[in-house]
This record gives sequence, C-alpha cells and structure tokens, in this order.
Amino acid sequence: MAGANPRSAGPLSTHVRPKKKSMSDPSLIEEQTAYYRARVEEYDEWFLRVGRYDRGEQHRRQWTDELETIRTFISSSSPLGDTLEIACGTGLWTGHLAALAASLMALDSVEETIAVNRQKNAASQIDYIVADIFDWEPTHRFDTVFFGFWLSHVPPSHFEKFWAKVGNALKPQGKVIFADSLKAQRSTASDHHPLNDSGVVERRLNSGETFRIVKRFYEPRNLLTTLKEIGWDGVIHSTDEFFLYGAVQQSNKGERRS
Ligand SMILES: C[S@@+](CC[C@H](N)C(=O)[O-])C[C@H]1O[C@@H](n2cnc3c(N)ncnc32)[C@H](O)[C@@H]1O
Repeated sequence: MAGANPRSAGPLSTHVRPKKKSMSDPSLIEEQTAYYRARVEEYDEWFLRVGRYDRGEQHRRQWTDELETIRTFISSSSPLGDTLEIACGTGLWTGHLAALAASLMALDSVEETIAVNRQKNAASQIDYIVADIFDWEPTHRFDTVFFGFWLSHVPPSHFEKFWAKVGNALKPQGKVIFADSLKAQRSTASDHHPLNDSGVVERRLNSGETFRIVKRFYEPRNLLTTLKEIGWDGVIHSTDEFFLYGAVQQSNKGERRS
C-alpha cells in the first residue's frame, strides 16, 4: 500500500487516450465503476493520505481535522433513524453511520468494495446491497440518506433524477446528509493532473493504469442554489480547504424546473 508509491510513474499527459469522453457519455459511468473496482485495494490511501497522497504530516493532520468536522456534523444530526448510505465504498463512513442509525442499508455498485466494507464493519448490523444507484429503486423509505464523496461523481445528465430518487427513498421529514470534495489542488494524488472544472478527470492507479471518471466540483452556495431550484433546502458548509458537507430536506417550496 504505502510502500507501493509509484511517484516514478510519468505525468498523465504522456498517456494517450483515443477519445475524450463527455460527461453525458454512458460509457463514462461504466468506466467509473471499473475504476472503483480496480481501486478497491488502494482506495483508503486517499483517505489516509499515504502513498501518492502523502503530502507530509502537517497536511495529514489538517486533512484529518477537516474530516473530523464532517464526522462531528453527522453526529450532531443523530439520531439518524433508518438510514441508507449510497455509494458506501470501503466503509470509511459506514461504521460511524451504523453507530448512530436505528438501521443501516449500505449500497454500492462494486461487489469487491462491499466485501472490504463488510470486513471492516463486521461488528455492526448492516444490510448490504450491490446495485447501480442509477438503476436501483428503493423498497422502503428512510429517515436519513447519506452519501460521502459521491455527488461529485454524478454526471449533470443524472443530477435531477438522482435527487428525485433520493427524495423517493425518504420518509416525509427525512433528511439527506452528504460530504464531498472542494476543488483543492492538494487533495489529489501527486501524479494526477491539476484539478479543473471540466467535470471529467483522469485517475491513475498505483499500477499506472488510468481511467476517466466524472468529478464535478461544487461550491456550497452554488450547490444550495441549484438544490433549491429542484425542491431541496438546508445548509451546506465548507471546511478550510478540502471538503464541503451539508444536510438538506425536501422543501416542497422550491421552484421546480419542470
Ligand atoms: C469516491 S467513492 C466514495 C466511497 C465512500 N462513500 C467514501 O466516502 O469513501 C465512490 C463510490 O461509488 C461507487 N459507485 C460508482 N458508481 C456507482 C453507481 N453507479 N452506483 C452505486 N455506487 C457506485 C464506487 O464503487 C465507490 O465505492
């Protein structure tokens, strides 16, 4: 893991791809899933700031403190009641949610990811589902829906449908809690391109293999404005450098676009 630092790998710009994908290209979603499947074993390096994400102790401390702000925010929203975690990944948030929730269903499209999550949270009672969120339909309603570092991977073409699905998954007074990345250059791996607003990024694994995925960066104020337009309201904050996080509920007062 940390020992497999491939900093010697050349810059991404040397890797030639036959065709650039737009955010509306359906195969981009498939490539995104393939990326997370291939990244399972090294996924947590990003979170732990090791390997290609290691920018020194001071940076790691700041990162960890900012993550703690999100964890505290989630705790302050408890009790979470019956909770759905979308794109649960390797379980970096799942254990924390499980401790605060009456019940927890954790969904991810990648089976290998769920396996790591299950192992990490073996002591907790969690109902796991392997499903593509864009195809999945909720079977019952939840008090809380959480997604960490997922919204930025939802293409603009799927944004409204995604939020409508989340709305359908919630009980009437249910809330959404989420966290995601700000466009912070120091957050990405040292051998990745600088972050930009194109909405599509090239990601490299420790092996040197590259993938294109959706990565949209939001600012709290703009995101809240967008969400209000589709019937949500609440609060969205940012930490000093790396993250945004918030909680929203369906307002029923929003000016719906359609
Ligand atoms: C950036 S990771 C976030 C994981 C976790 N929430 C966290 O904060 O560490 C994105 C996750 O979304 C999952 N994913 C990708 N496409 C998906 C889809 N269409 N439906 C459900 N999960 C998906 C990936 O397998 C991956 O675990």
